[in-house]
Parts: sequence; structure tokens; C-alpha cells
Amino acid sequence: MQVKLARKRGFCFGVEDAIELAERALDDHRDGKLIALGPVIHNRQVVERLETAGLNQSGQLDQVSDGTTVLIRSHGAPPETFVEAETKQLPLVDATCVLVKRAQNIVRQLHEEGYQVVMIGDAEHPEVKGVIGYAPKVIVVDREEDLDAVLPRRGKLGVVAQTTHAPEHVGQMIGAIASRPFRELKVVNTLCLEVVRRQEAAVELCSEVDVMFVLGGLHSANTRELARLCKEEGMRTFHLETWEQFEPGMAAGCTVAGVTAGASTPDDIIQEFAKNLEAFTPSP
Ligand code: F3S
Repeated sequence: MQVKLARKRGFCFGVEDAIELAERALDDHRDGKLIALGPVIHNRQVVERLETAGLNQSGQLDQVSDGTTVLIRSHGAPPETFVEAETKQLPLVDATCVLVKRAQNIVRQLHEEGYQVVMIGDAEHPEVKGVIGYAPKVIVVDREEDLDAVLPRRGKLGVVAQTTHAPEHVGQMIGAIASRPFRELKVVNTLCLEVVRRQEAAVELCSEVDVMFVLGGLHSANTRELARLCKEEGMRTFHLETWEQFEPGMAAGCTVAGVTAGASTPDDIIQEFAKNLEAFTPSP
């Protein structure tokens, strides 16, 4: 079948940098004294590859033994992690994406300027868990229905968003916040343009194909968002990790398929998927 690739897809610079730092750290620590505080990125295949190369990614700081180097993943970590590592005199390799670092600094600055910080994002996402550590009592909110319960009336609010959230959703949330009584509202755009460009390219491709395949980790927020946006376009959409999960029925009756991938999906997975799909003949 005919396969069209999204013009912007796959690895972003933040993920590339994090993997490079992890690989370099592995080279420098052949004695095994290296531990990552959680999966370096949200992609099972990359995590397994690093694991096979000897990188332990299940690390909890309180269980790390003396002299072990600690790798902070691309999603970042709260300030206490850095303080604890320093107290224990553990060497650090910081693979936090520069845009996540920027969001952390903005949160700290907003608090210092006297704003009640509000973060639009998924409270369970590791990036959000890290960012909110940079100011006390940050309010995390992701649904308009929750605003009344969590926002102070007539507050001086400083708003940021999870870097990988969709601009449309963030815009709606900001509109909803602004429609409530507030004293002052300051919004700082912390969205990642890499993500936005992948989202625009995916939506654009939806108008040219019969079915969309979105490749990437099932826990990857930006990949899930890509799949959600394609579905919102009314497109038949499948979120898969690799070609192994493809089933013939997914492309039945289709002639042109679109393929895109989240910011943590390696190019070899995308290319293998596209090659196999091109060689596939769907049933009518
Ligand atoms: Fe950073 Fe954006 Fe990638 S926040 S890790 S460049 S998706």
C-alpha cells in the first residue's frame, strides 16, 4: 500500500541529547557505578537497549550506594533530588531537556514574583512532578471542571503548561482560567515547539490518507497526544509501538496510510514500519 510519512516526526533534540548523555555516561562507567532515576525516555525499545548495555534505570536515590553516578532523565527532577545527591556527594549527569529546565526556572521565578503558580498538565507525568518542585504548592490542573475546586478566588496567578501538551487544550484551559475571578493573570508559554510541529504535521497528513499509524511508547504523553489529535480529525488511527503490533485488519479497505511518531520514537522503528507497510496488501 502507499505510505506517507509526516514531514515532522520522531526524535526531538531533547531526546537525542538525553540518549547521547546516557550512552556517554555508560562508556565512562564500565564499572557499573551508574544509575538512572527512572527510564531515560518514554520508549520501551530505547530503554531496553540502554538496559542491555548495562544502564540500570530503576534507581531510587535513597537506595543508591556511595560513589555511584546518578543520571537525571530528560523529564527532569525536583530540586530535592539535586540537594540529596549533593549531600550524599553523588556525581550527577543531568540529561534534563533544556525546555523542561526552562519551565522549572519559570515556575521558580513566578513564585518569587508573588504569583500562585498554576500548571496545566498531567499530575502523574514525571515532567510535571519535577517542575512543580520548583515552587511551593503549585496547583496542577488539566480539566476545566476542576478549576472551581482548586483555584483561589481573585488570586494573582502565574500559569505554565506541561511542555508536551497540545496548544489547543492549553488555550482552552487558559480561557477557562481567565473567565473566573482573578486579580492578576500572567501566562508564560512553556510549550515545546518540537511537539507542536509534530502535531501540526500529523493533522495535515490526516487529510491525505485513509488510516493513520502513530508510533511510540504507550506511556509517551506526546505520542498519545498525536493519536488523540488524529482521532479528533475523524481519522481511523492506531497507536502502536512497533511493526509487531500491526494487524492486517487495521488497514483493511485502505489504499493510503499515514505514519507519524512521537518525539521519543527512534527512526529505525519508523523506517521498518513504513517499509513493511509498503510491502503489505490490504484486503478490500
Ligand atoms: Fe524537550 Fe520537547 Fe523533546 S520538551 S524532550 S524537546 S519533546
